[in-house]
Amino acid sequence: MSRRLQVFSNLDALSRAAADEIARVADRPGSPSVILSGGSTPRRLFELLGTEWRDRIRWPYLHLFWSDERIVPNDDEQNNYHAAAELFLRRVPVSVDHVHRVRVDVERPAQAYQEELLTYFGLRGRKQFDLALLGIGADGHTASLFPGGPLESDRWVEAVIGPASRPPRERVTLTLRSLNSARRVLFMVAGAEKREILKRVLQHDDDLPAARVAGTEVTLFAADSDAAPDVSATSSRESM
Ligand code: 6PG
Repeated sequence: MSRRLQVFSNLDALSRAAADEIARVADRPGSPSVILSGGSTPRRLFELLGTEWRDRIRWPYLHLFWSDERIVPNDDEQNNYHAAAELFLRRVPVSVDHVHRVRVDVERPAQAYQEELLTYFGLRGRKQFDLALLGIGADGHTASLFPGGPLESDRWVEAVIGPASRPPRERVTLTLRSLNSARRVLFMVAGAEKREILKRVLQHDDDLPAARVAGTEVTLFAADSDAAPDVSATSSRESM
């Protein structure tokens, strides 16, 4: 398993490279899957998926999952699925039953989502995702795995209460077991406020949940030049 840092001149270039990564995954045989994250960094990527990449991705073959979800109403701006739906899901021919959202209106959202994952794994014939697109919080969290949270769980999905500093607090998250089952992990990191935490993650500071995530084949860190630790921007269009 390898780790690679790729620096892009800006978030748009980084997002275009991530869109290409999704297109490559969708071309794979056997029910390929992508885990999407929430937060603000992937918004530009989502816009591109619904426009310039709409016709470049084999949507009907692709399964979409979320790294985490906030337990808020489906139409709440803070609901991660809602953001993706508004920005691209409504514009692309993805198969409805391949959109695996966390259902927030059921009795036990985490248990329901774990069952949805296991059903997909059964369809796929192995407990693996193809790509996890993740962000990194300024405190080193990823998905809704926060420092001091349940990182050793042997479950695939956990219900967590996030820190008061990151509302909404009630969340469902994929665990390290889920994230680390992905063949490829792509962290999208942008902005000067992420520079210090990205440096710590790249230095394997295992106190940070993001540093504990590793794809079975490769872990890519796609950073814009503001977030990149002491490296100059390389090509904005290089593939990863
Ligand atoms: C969430 C995300 C979370 C996000 C990081 C980075 O639901 O909040 O899944 O893990 O990726 O907090 O967020 P930004 O991209 O907004 O910096």
